[in-house]
Amino acid sequence: MQDIKTQTDLDFLVRNFYKKLLSDEAISYIFTDVVKVNLEHHFPILVTFWSQAILGTGGYTNNLTQIHLDVNAKEYLSPQLFSIWINHFNASVDENFKGENCEKIKTQALSLATILQIKIAKENQ
Ligand code: HEM
Repeated sequence: MQDIKTQTDLDFLVRNFYKKLLSDEAISYIFTDVVKVNLEHHFPILVTFWSQAILGTGGYTNNLTQIHLDVNAKEYLSPQLFSIWINHFNASVDENFKGENCEKIKTQALSLATILQIKIAKENQ
């Protein structure tokens, strides 16, 4: 297995990850009902986001926290949902890639999940 090296790899990863999210009814409703995410619009944004984080390219300028606070205002993003999200993300990485960037992307995902949960907990106080 190869490491995550290119935006094509990231595109493959995010599509594989979303297949898992959307086939798990414990979390899929967030993407299909709460926010009706247009996947073909969403995937390139996710690729740009992870490319900036992992491959050192730029280009992501949105406010990730505010976007998730807005989702949370519609439907509570519970610790259980974050745990499901992280499990599918890690599984997608580990089933398809191996190497330094894989460890980097999983660490980043976990630390962002932690930060988002802290902000959501504050917002919901
Ligand atoms: C419970 C866990 C999570 C759920 C249910 C969730 C759900 C969503 C939804 C519904 C959107 C689309 C929002 C919209 O277009 O209005 C979104 C966008 C996004 N999410 Fe999450 N998310 C979760 C955790 C995370 C984490 C931990 C990360 C990063 C490590 C992340 C990264 C992103 C990115 C990069 C976008 C695109 C934002 C943009 O349009 O600029 N998400 N998420």
